[in-house]
Amino acid sequence: MLRRPRRNRKSPAIRALVEETRLSVKDFILPLFLIDGINQKVPVKSMPGINRYSLDQMLLEIESCLKLGITTFDIFPAYTEDKKDRWATESHREDTFYLKALFTIKQTFPEACIMTDVAMDPYSIDGHDGLVENGKILNDETLEILGKMTLAQARAGADIIGPSDMMDGRVGYLRKILDQNGFQDVSIMSYTAKYASAFYNPFRDALDSAPKAGDKKSYQMDPSNSQEALIEGQLDFDEGADFLMVKPALAYLDIIKLLHDKFPLPIAAYNVSGEYAMIKASAANGWLDGERAMTESLLSIKRAGAKIILTYFAKEFALLKQ
Ligand code: PBG
Repeated sequence: MLRRPRRNRKSPAIRALVEETRLSVKDFILPLFLIDGINQKVPVKSMPGINRYSLDQMLLEIESCLKLGITTFDIFPAYTEDKKDRWATESHREDTFYLKALFTIKQTFPEACIMTDVAMDPYSIDGHDGLVENGKILNDETLEILGKMTLAQARAGADIIGPSDMMDGRVGYLRKILDQNGFQDVSIMSYTAKYASAFYNPFRDALDSAPKAGDKKSYQMDPSNSQEALIEGQLDFDEGADFLMVKPALAYLDIIKLLHDKFPLPIAAYNVSGEYAMIKASAANGWLDGERAMTESLLSIKRAGAKIILTYFAKEFALLKQ
């Protein structure tokens, strides 16, 4: 046999030399859940190891992550029902707690890169990403609200805004509003191919943001489709997105690869709450080795073509690599 592929697997040294994909803490964005109040650190039941933090506790968490080399954080606020309305007013009201918190986080850690989510669901009494009228999700009316939300987040110091709402035309609309208001340097990481997925449930628990009626299928993509991802990718590219994101990650590795091969923009993938919960649950039962399953799934996402991974595992991975 002239070709013996096993020769390149014969020792740890050779295996390290031929290793094609290497994970780094620098690849990750850590999502963090924010709540109002002080001295609060409330575990999310369906996401073992993940908490909702009040601002003071979140500052401590960010500080410890920065020390581990994690540089970028995606901040998701949780609002109580009494603060929600049809128009997601709290998403842009001037002294609402999450905007004040963003400002303080940026003031305290100017070196941290802060990403924010642009969608109505955590602030909406309907729990949808857009404005609901007679059971329909209105597109263009939603854009106006997303515009106000984006501007408020940029004013509070957001470095990257992440439109996760899947409304048509949002990237171009938000880019224009940012530019007109002097925020040319605020980046847009578009949720380009976001699927109507069963893997978001733990996140909706964390934010109490599940839709009250209906589902998100009229705006999020159908899991059976990949061609639409190319249309979405082209639109986001043309409308000025700085990054294209695929979400969820593990069941959509083909979509990551598709966008990676097609568009010369950095591709991000969101390793979502349900993907985290699956590994944590089976590891807790002793059914698989949680650390190895974590590393293997993160590797597969990077190997598929994601330059950036949003993952709840970021800190655990960083601690492991210390
Ligand atoms: C809100 C939003 C969702 C997630 C990120 N932004 C939930 C949804 O669309 O229902 C999910 C993240 C996760 O599951 O980890 N638009």
